[in-house]
Amino acid sequence: MKGIVLAGGSGSRLHPVTRAVSKQLLPVYDKPMIYYPISVLMLAGIREILVISTPVDLPAFERLLGDGAELGVSFSYAEQAAPNGLAEAFLIGAEHVGDDTAALVLGDNIFHGQGFSTLLEREAARLEAEKGCVLFGYPVRDPGRYGVGEADPSGRLLSIEEKPARPRSNRAITGLYFYDNDVLDIAATLSPSARGELEITDVNRAYLDRGDARLIDLGRGFAWLDTGTHESLIEASQYVQVLEHRQGVRFACLEEIALAKGWITADQAYLLGERQASSGYGDYVMDIARRAGAATTS
Ligand code: G1P
Repeated sequence: MKGIVLAGGSGSRLHPVTRAVSKQLLPVYDKPMIYYPISVLMLAGIREILVISTPVDLPAFERLLGDGAELGVSFSYAEQAAPNGLAEAFLIGAEHVGDDTAALVLGDNIFHGQGFSTLLEREAARLEAEKGCVLFGYPVRDPGRYGVGEADPSGRLLSIEEKPARPRSNRAITGLYFYDNDVLDIAATLSPSARGELEITDVNRAYLDRGDARLIDLGRGFAWLDTGTHESLIEASQYVQVLEHRQGVRFACLEEIALAKGWITADQAYLLGERQASSGYGDYVMDIARRAGAATTS
């Protein structure tokens, strides 16, 4: 499975904060926002990740993430010239996806929960064997702000609507989508919606019409956090801070995930931590590397 992180947009709801800096580079407590969606793809076992952003912002993502080799993954980069919609990711990323299945994650979506890695790996493996798409639903107080789905007890998607005035359920469709390779053809045949965008909900509706769209519930024990407004951004930071401080762990630590997946050695992880030693984040990476058996002098 190939991964795509879509980190475009003007972040207009966060102006002036995002006038000069991409929203997905803003801090969510102790790391840049994009670390969180990248961690989701890595937890799913995906090692080839395309980052899509605006022509102006893309170089900053490249500066932050590099080519990924240090993490045992591959990061590549592509421009979205204008905000033409989420589904355009599959036109821009068609070559990257090739003949494979694909996971798209939005660069401002934060997920956290027990057993997430197992769930993601299971659904990614299922998609290799079966056709279709997998959407991830989450109960919210204000579903009308999102894509909203309804599913039968077996998880088969029954309906999907984008920002409905009268939502049929409280299940928001989160910004994480797994697709079989047909997504490339489906995206290529879309027309822009009334707001002039290629809508991901139209892609999902095509799978719904074929009868092979699944909606997996992330349940109330999970956190799916929004970062679209000043309030939700600081709430996300507070959530991460409270849990990290209480448990002494860090979420979305890319070095830790790469080490846990066996993509880098403990010695390599240690060096990555050492380079960021003064931030606390680096100390954490050095610590987990030490515990995993890194040969250290200290
Ligand atoms: C987009 C999608 C929507 C989805 C949401 C998740 O909305 O169109 O279906 O629920 O992302 O973050 P947007 O954030 O572009 O309004």
